[in-house]
Amino acid sequence: MQPKTPRQFFQPLAAGAPDPLTELPVRLERMIHFVPPHLDKVRTKVPSMAENADVILGNLEDAIPADAKEAARAGVVEMAGMMDWQASGTGFWTRVNPLNSPWFLEDVMTLVEKAGEQLDVIMIPKVEGPWDIHYADQLVAQLEAKHGLARPILFHAILETAEGVARVEEIAQASPRMQGISLGPADLAASRQMKTTRVGGGHPFYRVIEDPREEGGARISAQQDPWHYTVARMVDACVMAGIKPFYGPFGDISDLEACEQQFRNAFLLGCVGTWTLHPGQIDIAKKVFSPDPDEVKLARRILEALPDGRGVAMLDGKMQDDATWKQAKVIGDLADLVAAKDPGLAAAYAD
Ligand code: GLV
Ligand code: MG
Repeated sequence: MQPKTPRQFFQPLAAGAPDPLTELPVRLERMIHFVPPHLDKVRTKVPSMAENADVILGNLEDAIPADAKEAARAGVVEMAGMMDWQASGTGFWTRVNPLNSPWFLEDVMTLVEKAGEQLDVIMIPKVEGPWDIHYADQLVAQLEAKHGLARPILFHAILETAEGVARVEEIAQASPRMQGISLGPADLAASRQMKTTRVGGGHPFYRVIEDPREEGGARISAQQDPWHYTVARMVDACVMAGIKPFYGPFGDISDLEACEQQFRNAFLLGCVGTWTLHPGQIDIAKKVFSPDPDEVKLARRILEALPDGRGVAMLDGKMQDDATWKQAKVIGDLADLVAAKDPGLAAAYAD
């Protein structure tokens, strides 16, 4: 497919729609906390949840029963009015139903009209290629123009089909609306016909084993991460496009230790955040996706040792150069963002 020319790429797709953004807004998005919007009891807790989470997402797709889809949609509209999201600094997102479902059109039409001023990002599931993004892009531009929105709503794609993984670079670059991509390990496992029944995480059968020992005896064996390839590929595609990569759901909410390990692997490989499905996972995401205070102190020392980011210096016997300066800059910038939102960590970083 012939790509759009640079000038066309940033033209609004409908007369009267807001101009596409050339840069993503600077936001802290360590966790996208999923809320089932049809449950009154949960919905009333949204303002207090928003104080503790970087992003609150009203979920309309999987896990919402078919007979509750309309109530969930109305619930997201209600959530939009529960607080001034734009002033709060907490992101307000929704996950709509897939493009081929009976609900997608009404999800988007209702939410842009009734929640569009507050909505930061629409998460689009089961994206298979750039054409899915192009279709939603045109539709949302028409609705933004119709309802006079001043600020474009961004898109986030879930990487959860074999087709999507094969085209992840094209998806990441499909529109200036693209904010990021998340791994969807449950649907991706089904799409790939992986022989699993889990939502993310490792598997006891997927492991490496050491060679037989001459002296015999038990051989050391350890579980491997079945998501390594996909996460790494997604990170490259996102970074190349200037958008953000995220880990997705970790379904075993009782296994906080494995959840933390999965989040940490994703953070180390370049992901900026994750989904949280239960309040217990929020603190884990904060811990993992905020840089460690000791790392921040070292990063700041590296930045000071090479003030213009070039040359060479020795710190504690280790060589620092342009490349370690760039790594330190990533950690230092992230620490500044975290410190602005989190007074506890601001103090730890300042020590
Ligand atoms: C998320 O939507 C997943 O399928 O893992
Ligand atoms: Mg899914």
